[in-house]
Formats: sequence, C-alpha cells, structure tokens
Amino acid sequence: MEEIRNKVIIITGASSGIGEKTARRLASEGAKVILVARRKDRIESLAKEINSNGGTAFSIVADVTDKDACRKIITQSKEKFGNIDVLVNNAGIMLIGQWNEADVEEWEKMVKVNLLGLMYMTHAVLPEMNKNKKGHIVNISSVSGRTTKPGSSAYNSTKWGVNAFTDALRQELAQAKSGIRTTLIEPGAVETELITHNKPEIQERLNKNYTNMVRLQPEDIADAVAYAISRPSRVSINEILIRPTEQVG
Ligand SMILES: NC(=O)c1ccc[n+]([C@@H]2O[C@H](COP(=O)([O-])OP(=O)(O)OC[C@H]3O[C@@H](n4cnc5c(N)ncnc54)[C@H](OP(=O)(O)O)[C@@H]3O)[C@@H](O)[C@H]2O)c1
Repeated sequence: MEEIRNKVIIITGASSGIGEKTARRLASEGAKVILVARRKDRIESLAKEINSNGGTAFSIVADVTDKDACRKIITQSKEKFGNIDVLVNNAGIMLIGQWNEADVEEWEKMVKVNLLGLMYMTHAVLPEMNKNKKGHIVNISSVSGRTTKPGSSAYNSTKWGVNAFTDALRQELAQAKSGIRTTLIEPGAVETELITHNKPEIQERLNKNYTNMVRLQPEDIADAVAYAISRPSRVSINEILIRPTEQVG
C-alpha cells in the first residue's frame, strides 16, 4: 500500500458533492489537499474546517474552463506544498434534455467544463509529474461515459470523451515509462447537487427516476478515489465502475 499521508492532491470541484467528500476523506488520511472551485465561500470554509481539525488544506478559486487559470492552479499548488502527487479532475455539470429542449449554450458549457477543463488541468500538471517520474491523474467520468440514453446526448459525449482521453493518455504514459498512472472513476447515480442546475421540469423528471432507488453517497466515490491512489506504484487501477445496487442502466 502507498500512504495517502503527505501526498499533495489537487481536487477540482471541491465545493460540493463528490469533490467535497473526497477532499474531506483524503485530508482525514493526512493528504495535503488543494481545493479548487468557483464558489469562494464554500472552499474557503472547507479549507478552514480541515485546517482547524488538524488537516492541511489550501483553497484556490478558479474556473477550469480558463486554461491560464488551470496553469496558475498548478504553479500556486507547487509554491504552497511542493511536488504534486495526485490530480483529481472532478469538476463537472450535467444539463439534461433532448435536442429540442436543450440550448446549444448548455452543450457548450458541458464540453468546456467536463471535457476541456479536465484536459487543461491534465496538460498543466503533466510536465511536473513527468519531471518527478511519478504522479496520478484520477478522472471522474460516469456510467454515462459507457452507456447512452435519450436526453443525455451532450453529457454522454463529454463523458465518453473523458473515457477516451484517459485511456489514450494512459497508453502514452505507460509507453514512455513515465511512472504516471491514470484512473477513470465512473459513478452511477450519486446524491449531490448535480441535477439542481437543470430546468425545474427536468429536475422533476430526474427525481422521479430516483424514487425507487437508493442512490450512492458522495463518500462512496471518495472511497474509490482513496483506494485507487493508495495501491503500490506497480499497480494502476485503470477503471472503477460503480452503480447503486438497484440501478439498471
Ligand atoms: N452525482 C452523480 O450522480 C454523478 C454521477 C456520475 C458522475 N458524476 C460526476 O461527478 C462530478 C462531480 O459532480 P457532483 O455530483 O459532486 O456534483 P456537484 O455537487 O454539483 O459538484 C460539481 C462541482 O464542480 C464544480 N464546478 C462546476 N463548474 C466548474 C468550473 N467551471 N470550474 C471549476 N469548478 C466547477 C462545482 O463548483 P463551483 O460551482 O463552486 O465552481 C462543484 O464543486 C462531475 O464530474 C459529475 O459529472 C456525478
């Protein structure tokens, strides 16, 4: 097992849901966590709470769709805690709707955050990890990166993109014997704020799907992240697909 203690870990989308619980979990195991999101109040108070409970956290307010901001996150993290061990690309949005219910701007937003943001962060951190001959990139994809369904075409596209990017990158990094690992985590339905950014009628539709199912908790995904990053360096957990026990598709 590799110790999580003292690892320097950047988590995007740390202001709520999976990112927040992942930050709490990894900090509780002694990691130095860097919390990235746009909501300043949320990440600042989380960092304060972690630090006052004996953990180590630092918050950076940033939008991952801004590539200069992504480069700056890496520089600032390095200045604060030194070499970066893990990047958890978790920031994401899910705006559901069939083609005739969706604005093309919503599609653009999802591509920018879920796919381009993750690519910008990865591109910014790789030179550092490559220099150190070690590092770990954990990408939070989705069951929607493996399956498709009506109303989800744009979200599906972003998450399929994340899966393709991650596996092609894994091969490049393995071929180069870089020592850098990649992990793709693909959750099913998790109880978070994710659906609240949709139009009310769509939220209602999504909530109906969940009435007969016990959803995953964000802590369940944090647990998968902790597992993947604590394997010995020879072990690369390429992919973890996690559905609620009662989720069919
Ligand atoms: N919940 C599910 O059922 C589920 C299932 C499969 C996969 N996922 C994936 O899990 C990830 C986390 O989602 P969640 O369920 O935890 O939802 P969430 O609670 O809404 O969290 C999303 C996070 O992303 C951040 N974010 C959004 N746009 C951003 C931007 N432009 N720059 C920086 N941060 C940004 C948000 O922070 P700010 O708004 O403060 O910036 C927030 O912290 C997403 O990638 C999602 O696709 C979720």
